[in-house]
Amino acid sequence: MLEIIKDTVSYIKTHIQAEPEIGIVLGTGLGGLVNEIDIQTSLSYEKIPNFPVSTVEGHSGKLIFGKLANKNVVAMQGRFHFYEGYEMSQVIFPIRVMKYLGIKTLFLSNASGGVNPDFEIGDLMIITDHICLVPNPLIGKNEAQLGTRFPDMSEAYDKNLISKAEQIAQNLGIKVKKGVYTATTGPTFETPSEYKYFRIIGSDTVGMSTAPEVIAARHMGLPCFAMSIITDLGVPGKIIEVTHEEVQRVATNTETKMTKIFKKLIEEI
Ligand code: HPA
Repeated sequence: MLEIIKDTVSYIKTHIQAEPEIGIVLGTGLGGLVNEIDIQTSLSYEKIPNFPVSTVEGHSGKLIFGKLANKNVVAMQGRFHFYEGYEMSQVIFPIRVMKYLGIKTLFLSNASGGVNPDFEIGDLMIITDHICLVPNPLIGKNEAQLGTRFPDMSEAYDKNLISKAEQIAQNLGIKVKKGVYTATTGPTFETPSEYKYFRIIGSDTVGMSTAPEVIAARHMGLPCFAMSIITDLGVPGKIIEVTHEEVQRVATNTETKMTKIFKKLIEEI
């Protein structure tokens, strides 16, 4: 595994000007942050050795290098989901590559369904914790150079980054919620009973990504910060048909606010 990661990293290093210190994973309909990056290099996933190729609509599949808030960043425009048929090791492969490229912090975004009855469509939520209901991406032989066999998950989402982000949001006059994200495999959205179940087990939102990537990052000791845009509601009495197009539409309409928070937070760390 390590050899494969290093092979990919050495290919990428021949194409970039500076080592990134921040990694960013952009979720469905949330690629707009890329417009804020002063892009130096853009690599299509299909050109990168050993990289899986993204298939889902709304994910264009590029690794973007450049400056954001005066920091060298690498952004994944499009991520890999378990529901696309990838192995979990493929889903988290780019996170491992970003770590070996030199990132010190990982930022992630996603679109999700709100199951907390206090949430509205278009709300932003800072993820404080997750419940991972997809197969754990670390199942299998442990690569000791990457991390320990039994990684701690007591602070999967960095408390310091969370409080900084809350402060930033307040200063910018942007309302944010905080809560627990549950990752499910998809690709179906939930039945009303499944939404109810997710609420009962302690979720505020449900989506199809993020938790495996955060697990892989924490395995390697990388601090993580993640935000979710609530694109639909799985709240009794408010459940209506959900489509991927609607998820993308709400995400795109709300992302400017999230981008502002990400940018300022990146500037301050
Ligand atoms: N469920 C699962 N994933 C999602 C949802 C949802 O309601 N909305 C956006 N991604």
